Amino acid sequence: MIELHLPSPLHPIPIQNKKAIKFFIKRDDLIHPTISGNKWRKLKYQLTHAKEQGFKGILTFGGAYSNHIIATALAAKKEGLNSIGIIRGEAHSINIKNATLSKATEYGMDLQFISREEYKLKEEGQYVQELLNKRSGFFLIPEGGKHQLALPGVAEIIQEMASDIDNIDYLLCAIGTGTTFAGLAKTKKIKQLIGIPVLKHSNIQQEIEEDLLGEHLTSDCSILHDYHFGGYAKFNSELIDFMHDINSQYNIPTDVLYTSKLLYAAVDLLRQDYFKADSTVCIYHSGGIQGNAGMNERFPDLVKF
Ligand SMILES: Cc1ncc(COP(=O)(O)O)c(C=O)c1O
Repeated sequence: MIELHLPSPLHPIPIQNKKAIKFFIKRDDLIHPTISGNKWRKLKYQLTHAKEQGFKGILTFGGAYSNHIIATALAAKKEGLNSIGIIRGEAHSINIKNATLSKATEYGMDLQFISREEYKLKEEGQYVQELLNKRSGFFLIPEGGKHQLALPGVAEIIQEMASDIDNIDYLLCAIGTGTTFAGLAKTKKIKQLIGIPVLKHSNIQQEIEEDLLGEHLTSDCSILHDYHFGGYAKFNSELIDFMHDINSQYNIPTDVLYTSKLLYAAVDLLRQDYFKADSTVCIYHSGGIQGNAGMNERFPDLVKF
């Protein structure tokens, strides 16, 4: 039995400051060690839909250390669905026995390795259709769970937070595909939503607007591009020291790829006087801690918790 801890807790973070700004963190990383963070939020209604429509399984895409792959493998199993993971990189070019892929296999996911070139076709309708035609009865969940059906699950984060706290002035989340940000934005219930892209994404706003929302972002939504540390999975010693400090001071583990950059942004914005006095700032912890094992495989002893 796979038990999810919902609603996830909203914890205060005692970050000292002279403007009486209060910080909170929505700990979705505590939902489940594998189906962690925004993963359940994004998958929930896609899996429900697949089951209701009589699909026998899920086909999805991801990298060799992907949080989405491992979470989908287990969530599909939990829902009694099969799963196929199309993985970026041929089997000889990646460590197919890494912890993420080994566990995904253990959860019953059928892994298929394709070249990086072929992987680039993952959003081409014809290519995807051919993949689906080869295995009948599989429902496509795009890379990172990027789908309209992810949005209502993400909106439930706001409903949960509303029962814990009366007022939120700012809510910060990390941006990969932008699906989580879009789901939060769509609720139109946040005074200031701030997204922190972890990739060097020049056109993420347009992608969010066109692919997910079908409308322009309003002025209560901002995307701040200063905290990607050079791009996806890029980091420096300042970021790594910072994530160790945050863990030892506040007992908040973060991952190198997403949430360390998010927390870093929150603390830096405080330093830059971005938040108004007496305001309440919430940070959305979208999980991903399992990914640190993969980083440590490539950079031994990088993350020490
Ligand atoms: C831990 C973690 N945080 C944040 C994100 C970014 O979420 P999104 O792709 O919805 O922007 C991801 C990717 O899905 C992730 O794995």
